[in-house]
Amino acid sequence: MSEVSITEAHLGELRGKFEHVGGASGIGKAIVELIVRKGGRVAFADMDATSGDVLETALKQEGFKVTFYKVNVASWLEMKAFFAEVKDSYGRIDLVFANAGVGDNNLTFQDLLDADGELAPPDLNVIDVNVNGVIYTSKLALHYMRQNPQPQGGGLVLTGSTSSYNERPNLPLYSMAKHGVIGLMRALRQNAPADSINVGAIAPGGTQTRLFTSDAASAFRSLGIPVNKASSVALAAVYLASIPATNGKALTVIGDKFTEVEDSILATQHLWYGQYNTDMARRASGSFMSTVEIMLRGSWSDIDLLVGEATYTDARADASSLARLPLWDKQVPAILVAEIQMLEAGFQEMARVGGVEEVERTLVLHLQYFCPWGILSRKTCC
Ligand SMILES: NC(=O)c1ccc[n+]([C@@H]2O[C@H](COP(=O)([O-])OP(=O)(O)OC[C@H]3O[C@@H](n4cnc5c(N)ncnc54)[C@H](O)[C@@H]3O)[C@@H](O)[C@H]2O)c1
Repeated sequence: MSEVSITEAHLGELRGKFEHVGGASGIGKAIVELIVRKGGRVAFADMDATSGDVLETALKQEGFKVTFYKVNVASWLEMKAFFAEVKDSYGRIDLVFANAGVGDNNLTFQDLLDADGELAPPDLNVIDVNVNGVIYTSKLALHYMRQNPQPQGGGLVLTGSTSSYNERPNLPLYSMAKHGVIGLMRALRQNAPADSINVGAIAPGGTQTRLFTSDAASAFRSLGIPVNKASSVALAAVYLASIPATNGKALTVIGDKFTEVEDSILATQHLWYGQYNTDMARRASGSFMSTVEIMLRGSWSDIDLLVGEATYTDARADASSLARLPLWDKQVPAILVAEIQMLEAGFQEMARVGGVEEVERTLVLHLQYFCPWGILSRKTCC
């Protein structure tokens, strides 16, 4: 697990960029404020028109470029219209934050009755907003970012929670939704770089906002648990969105401290999931895991320059044919030739030291090609 130090100085260039943020209060508000202060233009959406108008007016008075839209993120039609209008007005969408969210009423599994004395149906608003809203936001974000001239793409950050990684008996649907947010991020991170898009997630702990009331904050503090400033969580979100090399990462934020958690989850999977299960699951799920494996176990010092756009070839190939795999038989720019040679040497060395089984185990299966992160995408090289 790696603690990460992030300051505003680490943020990517935001001037001239155009962002969409969910949320007019709390963390969303802090994201809007941070981005405009860094020179970006922002459209932000929220159901709460009062808070949205207040924020828009205050920031405009300071000379910032910001527009508020009253939108229900749980409505596909409203979200589609919102993104279309923003694209129309601003010409492009660079960074998107799927941040709007609601809490859990913890009534779902209680035996409540409806007016007819029947078992009442569960209230699924948490799922509508925290799951469906995130799906709609992500789908529209990817759709519009793919339209940006390559290789610019964009950045998408989903708001998870410490409830994405921990048991929350009193927040069943919230917990389900926030676990789902990380699941979605993991699925999207595999293919997003092919469109020069990076996807990440934030997983904040208690952060003083409307959702996490001052009573909750006091209770946390009395247990010795620190409470985040919304501005710290915003910093983590904007960092992930604006720096393409963070694709696939999730930053948890507790007590204003940032920790990347996805790398260590992947690195220790064989311990908590079993080596056999891990090998089989990675073989089934493909590229991203393979690259992480290589980064962790490979001996190539430069390997972290590469992203795992890998596909399978013949699993029965022997070591010598591995080294001769048609990794780069397509048109490849000269800039990559050295890296290709390094990869081939790496395959050979790995096979020499550990045998072909080691190569297979480490690479999950044989990799057909790699695309260096941020330089090439599958579209441009393969
Ligand atoms: N505050 C915390 O302790 C904490 C911890 C972990 C994760 N989070 C997550 O952070 C995100 C932001 O929450 P916050 O803490 O800033 O709370 P907040 O209540 O201050 O902000 C949430 C915003 O989402 C808006 N919203 C709710 N439903 C909406 C809908 N259907 N359409 C559009 N907007 C809608 C609300 O009006 C509000 O402005 C949420 O996803 C939340 O789950 C918060």
